[in-house]
Amino acid sequence: MIPNYFDLTGKIALITGGSRGIGLAIAKGMAQCGAQILLCGRSAVSLDQARATIGGGVITALTDVSDESAVLELRETVERRCGRLDILVNNAGIDPHYAPLDHTEVADWENVLNTNLNGVFYCCKHLGGLMIPAKAGSIINISSVAGRVALKRQVPYCASKGGVEQLTRALAVDWAEHGIRVNAIGYGFIKTDLTSGMTDHPHIAPKLLARTPLGRFGELFEVAGAAIFLASPSASYVTGHTLMVDGGWTAA
Ligand SMILES: NC(=O)c1ccc[n+]([C@@H]2O[C@H](COP(=O)([O-])OP(=O)(O)OC[C@H]3O[C@@H](n4cnc5c(N)ncnc54)[C@H](OP(=O)(O)O)[C@@H]3O)[C@@H](O)[C@H]2O)c1
Repeated sequence: MIPNYFDLTGKIALITGGSRGIGLAIAKGMAQCGAQILLCGRSAVSLDQARATIGGGVITALTDVSDESAVLELRETVERRCGRLDILVNNAGIDPHYAPLDHTEVADWENVLNTNLNGVFYCCKHLGGLMIPAKAGSIINISSVAGRVALKRQVPYCASKGGVEQLTRALAVDWAEHGIRVNAIGYGFIKTDLTSGMTDHPHIAPKLLARTPLGRFGELFEVAGAAIFLASPSASYVTGHTLMVDGGWTAA
């Protein structure tokens, strides 16, 4: 019999921003590997649709991760409904502002940083903290090529993802003593609602494709494997790492 290195049976996995795009694809993949799934997001309609897509007792919670009090409420929900947390995927993220810095207002900066970096901090602290008594757990923070290299006209987004990468390394070192592994995934351009303005754009898309060694955008069926690996027993000695899933973008 071939051993199942990616078995998540019985694991409780919370995916923030799991109602659409990459988060939903990761949730589906983890569910197929046996995990009990919790999703959070800001739209009840999207969460209901996601629950219907995955099936199998998915728990959903309306939560804005940029609001610490909402994250604390989510922690209560996880404790009440599940009693513990084994896997936390900090996926919720936004990228609404494309402009040079001289056309970037403080509000634009705060909007991106509040979700993409502060949200990861709140979720690691309050939800990841649930893993401490168990002396085990896997936190996976969703970063981007923008955490490694510059993307033009996206200073707040690049800064937020660079912060996520360093938060990941620093927390991996801090919480190793609790048996909690903390890793990140740096995606390249994956076709989702977030990137459709670029991947469907007649002038921008060809430039992005020319810059990508594999010569194509990533598809949603290609995003879950890295997260499943990092959550699974196969990655039991992996922590503080960012796994690039970027078609070679950061290698070039
Ligand atoms: N697509 C790519 O090419 C790409 C590349 C690199 C990195 N990433 C990263 O991957 C993650 C997911 O991106 P995506 O492309 O899947 O985006 P997406 O299709 O726009 O989905 C984003 C998800 O996050 C949720 N969300 C956004 N803000 C939230 C908040 N404050 N609190 C809770 N949930 C929130 C959204 O639901 P609601 O709007 O209903 O709340 C949705 O479920 C992001 O962190 C993004 O930066 C994406």
